[in-house]
Amino acid sequence: MLTIDIITVVPDLLEGPFSHSIMKRAQDKGLLTVRTHNLRKWAINKHAQVDDYPFGGGAGMVLMCEPLANAIEELQLNNTYDAIIYMTPDGKTFDQPMANQLSMLQNLLIICGHYKGIDQRIRDQYITMEISIGDYVLSGGELAAAVVVDAIGRLIPGVLSDETSALTDSFQDNLLAPPVYTRPADFRGMKVPEILLQGDPKKVEDWRFEQSVERTKTRRPDLFKED
Ligand code: ADE
Repeated sequence: MLTIDIITVVPDLLEGPFSHSIMKRAQDKGLLTVRTHNLRKWAINKHAQVDDYPFGGGAGMVLMCEPLANAIEELQLNNTYDAIIYMTPDGKTFDQPMANQLSMLQNLLIICGHYKGIDQRIRDQYITMEISIGDYVLSGGELAAAVVVDAIGRLIPGVLSDETSALTDSFQDNLLAPPVYTRPADFRGMKVPEILLQGDPKKVEDWRFEQSVERTKTRRPDLFKED
């Protein structure tokens, strides 16, 4: 059972991603709980202010210390977090080993920045892990958080109906997944590889492994160099 709290200034952005398909099923089965918290609940004044101009000048707004500290501390009263994660393009790049590790934890708190990010003192004081989903800049951490929660959520035991299917994903062995086919066996003259139709599980397994290696060599040779 994994519980994920997410602090955001745009909770609406996180409505859709967890309300369908596998993430919905994970929550319906009681294996995953995702709760979003609107940072404005901890705003410093009646104008719902949560951000301010950066000291030293420059473009963009910065999420202030006080609302974030109060939000984190209030949530900590009822939860002991295994990790307090800040989504940021200067964090560690998210990958499958990180997803595997996070899926084994019980309580996560994810902070989404917006505008120019959050006050550095919050990062210094509360954040235990900083995650980027890639070398590009999004307008906020919400979509990145949705990516991370989805990748973690599907790895929780019991979430995928076929227990082995997460193990055969791309990246699980530093290999890309092999090609897949479904009916019909002949689509406009394009045929499914014979070996998949013959019903010999050992041959299918060998073929898939070869295809995985071939794909990885041509598309992601860098994966062979890792670990
Ligand atoms: N916030 C903005 N850009 C991001 C990224 N690439 N990864 C994580 N959080 C972000």
